[in-house]
Amino acid sequence: MAKKKATKKKAARKIRKLRTAVIGVGSMGMRHSESVRKRVPEMELVAVVDANLEQAEKVGKKFKVPVFKNHQELIKSGLAEAVIIATPHPLHLKTCLDCIKAKMHVLCEKPLAETISSADKMVKAAKKYRVKLGVMFQRRFEPAISKALEIVRSGKLGKIQRTIMISPEYRTQAYYDSGSWRATWEGEGGGVMMNQAPHVIDIFVQLAGLPVSVNGNIKTLMHNIEVEDFAEATLKYKDGGTGYFYTSTNELKPGQMIEIVGDKGKLIWRDSNLEFWRYEPAVPAFTKKTKEMWGVPKKIQEVYNFKPVDQQHYHVIRNFARHLVLNERLECSGESGLASLELTNAIMLSSFKGKEVKLPISRREYDAELKRLREKSTFKKKVRPQMQCDPQFK
Ligand SMILES: NC(=O)c1ccc[n+]([C@@H]2O[C@H](COP(=O)([O-])OP(=O)(O)OC[C@H]3O[C@@H](n4cnc5c(N)ncnc54)[C@H](O)[C@@H]3O)[C@@H](O)[C@H]2O)c1
Repeated sequence: MAKKKATKKKAARKIRKLRTAVIGVGSMGMRHSESVRKRVPEMELVAVVDANLEQAEKVGKKFKVPVFKNHQELIKSGLAEAVIIATPHPLHLKTCLDCIKAKMHVLCEKPLAETISSADKMVKAAKKYRVKLGVMFQRRFEPAISKALEIVRSGKLGKIQRTIMISPEYRTQAYYDSGSWRATWEGEGGGVMMNQAPHVIDIFVQLAGLPVSVNGNIKTLMHNIEVEDFAEATLKYKDGGTGYFYTSTNELKPGQMIEIVGDKGKLIWRDSNLEFWRYEPAVPAFTKKTKEMWGVPKKIQEVYNFKPVDQQHYHVIRNFARHLVLNERLECSGESGLASLELTNAIMLSSFKGKEVKLPISRREYDAELKRLREKSTFKKKVRPQMQCDPQFK
């Protein structure tokens, strides 16, 4: 027994720890630093970086690690082999590219960037420099989402006939006023689709795939901000299926839901509940062949009532580390983070143009639209600083 324990201890000691720094130690970065230290045995926190030196020093002191005021200094120090980037997203591109070029692995907060063209560059660079790029989509680890992904990946849904995504993401004006970068074209490059809804949008596109075209409509309805707090769109899929997309920071939860109807089954996710109906045989074959006037394919129901879980970012961090140290499957690769951004940029572009757009969108056209919005912005933002992590992240 004692021998077994000693061998186990020895094996645990042998696990290599990925030397990791956190860049941007505000609400999320501070939390990630804590996760690395307390919940990811395959990582070692070696430094923290923040443009606000006071903040960096506060966090550095807490975790007893060196502090840098920018990522270039961190790179020069040679202390880290991996970084977690948690700065505002329009800053992700430069930091990410510099770290990748310095041969560091990068786990980047969502969204990878505010434009799909920037995110493309990040994915391409990681491939070129042979380092790993990951994206912080922690909701993929929730039991209901993991099960839904398993059902879809097994091909049980068939061809898409219809989809719905509803994502209420309520936020107060005080939330928007808490930081100078929030809800501005310059600081975020978008509103609810860019910052609050990306997780549900990610789940939606991981499950349903991307549509071939969208007709989008964005508005600012309830908040004093210059970007959208409401977005809706109709979607068209390659086999003739259609979809409806809605998100806003004006509506309260509960009610986050995704419905995907295929010709072989129907998947319904609402909050933490998942329901799947499997059809035997598939609807088109049955419809054509049956001689029964009121016939219906056999419907087999599977219901999964999962307990609501807290959002746990450390799952993504740990999987990223274990991928690098132990070759575990990478659940949130940077490349897999492109789809949600492609969809949100497409909805935005369609709304700017007032007509349907096809996917993949023209990167050049989207970048030009965003540049135009940034240049002509006259919005005067009132900032009442507050730094508190979302209380739903326990
Ligand atoms: N995965 C999630 O659930 C989740 C939740 C909230 C926010 N986020 C994302 O995390 C990122 C940060 O959001 P936040 O709420 O923590 O913001 P925040 O404002 O609380 O923190 C950002 C920090 O970055 C620092 N910073 C700014 N520019 C920098 C630079 N050039 N170099 C180093 N540090 C710099 C700021 O001083 C600040 O401390 C955003 O991309 C956001 O979309 C993800």
